[in-house]
Amino acid sequence: MKRDKVLIFDTTLRDGEQCPGASLNHREKIEIASQLARLNVDVIEAGFPIASPDDFRAVKAIAETVKGPRVAGLARCLEKDILRCAEAVEPAGRRGRIHVFLATSPIHRRFKLKKEKHEILKQAVDAITFARKHCADVEFSPEDATRTEADFLAEVVRAAIDAGASTVNIPDTVGYAVPHEFGALIASLYDKVPNISSAVINVHCHNDLGLAVANSLAALKNGARGVECTINGIGERAGNCALEEIAMALLTRRDSFGLETAIVTRELSRASRLVSRLTGMVVQRNKAIVGANAFAHEAGIHQDGILKERTTYEIMRPQDVGIDGSELILGKHSGRHAFREMLARMGFKLSPPELERAYKRFIELADKKKSIYDDDLTAIARDEMEEGCGLYVLDYLHVSTGTKTVPTATVRLKKGKEMIQDAACGDGPVDATLKTIDRIAGVKGKLVDYAIQAVTVGKDAQGEVSLRVAFGPDIISGKAASTDIVQASAAAYLGCVNRHLMSSVARK
Ligand code: KIV
Ligand code: ZN
Repeated sequence: MKRDKVLIFDTTLRDGEQCPGASLNHREKIEIASQLARLNVDVIEAGFPIASPDDFRAVKAIAETVKGPRVAGLARCLEKDILRCAEAVEPAGRRGRIHVFLATSPIHRRFKLKKEKHEILKQAVDAITFARKHCADVEFSPEDATRTEADFLAEVVRAAIDAGASTVNIPDTVGYAVPHEFGALIASLYDKVPNISSAVINVHCHNDLGLAVANSLAALKNGARGVECTINGIGERAGNCALEEIAMALLTRRDSFGLETAIVTRELSRASRLVSRLTGMVVQRNKAIVGANAFAHEAGIHQDGILKERTTYEIMRPQDVGIDGSELILGKHSGRHAFREMLARMGFKLSPPELERAYKRFIELADKKKSIYDDDLTAIARDEMEEGCGLYVLDYLHVSTGTKTVPTATVRLKKGKEMIQDAACGDGPVDATLKTIDRIAGVKGKLVDYAIQAVTVGKDAQGEVSLRVAFGPDIISGKAASTDIVQASAAAYLGCVNRHLMSSVARK
């Protein structure tokens, strides 16, 4: 059977980054985009260039440096947005795409846009025509398509294709659709829109009812050939369709769909861990495909079955999504060269000082810990990369705590050449440490989330601390790992403080 190709349009860096607390810095965005290229997605939606100078810079840098996928930027149907977007995606050359959107539903027309149908139609057509003058690849999205009158939607799709959109995306903006209706909507577009075969029909499903993947699959069954999705399903509110789930559903059930993607599925697990680490959005253990329990078998009957024949309880092989069991890769006798090579293979590009600091930490860890896993290395590399772009670096930490002791922390931070030391008491060792950091940095952070998770296995595993800190209205997430959880907490918190200080400077 000939399989049709499904295009994977990743919007982790645009819709995904829109979820509260998931903001990424420039370097992190490039790192994620590089991993998306390794995953072999067809399109990376790199940001919304008009939204901020940072967004513009990130889209441009991704268009300049990331090879392979098309690079799209989002724009409203306004000339100033389109021009800014065109400038940002221009370095990608023929791989650049402008994605324009305009709401079409009665609710949005009446309350948000205060426009009639004919005005919406004209604005969309004018914007697509204008965008085509600046970029050969233009996508159009009628926002809130699933709550738009079916006939008007068909009229808009036809006009968008006539105006030059080579992709028309049908967004379920508020996650209102259910699979049988959404499938029928796509089928009806194929019936009603005479020029529909001149464009690729994408779908963009939100997960408010937990149906984003099911709705996307129903759309594919009815003729859609592009899916807009994010790693780990992160995104506005309940998130977007999860890339790893759609890719593995199509692969595992190719017997049912007869469709294929170009995704290199072995990179899924790494992509998931990277996005989780950088956004601070923890992946639930039972999350399909990439959760820690996705391939863990606890029940005796299941374990017995698996040992006799894997397929009794496993419909996918963990290796196919890049879970090979945490592999032991380096030991304390490994030299700098092997260390650097290993990090490069894992996708980390560290500057010489970062590499030196990371190597020192690796040797220290290898002295404390029998087995070094690739997740240990990832944790070290990430920390050091953050440390390098931060303002404050943790130089010394001492805590005293116990049943009859007031928990007290002494912290010394390095800022450039200056060393600043202070001490404070708190409700516990972590509280005392964070309070001391606040005193030194002159900030007042409020912990809104705090979680510890073992990075690998065993009593000597590194503890990874994920936290979210509110500095007034600014919510920033951070992560760090260490065999000492107070130290990991200090490093994660300090990462947030540094980011907060850097964004305050940028705002001035
Ligand atoms: O959810 C949505 O409608 C969007 C559009 C901008 C495509 O994100
Ligand atoms: Zn969306």
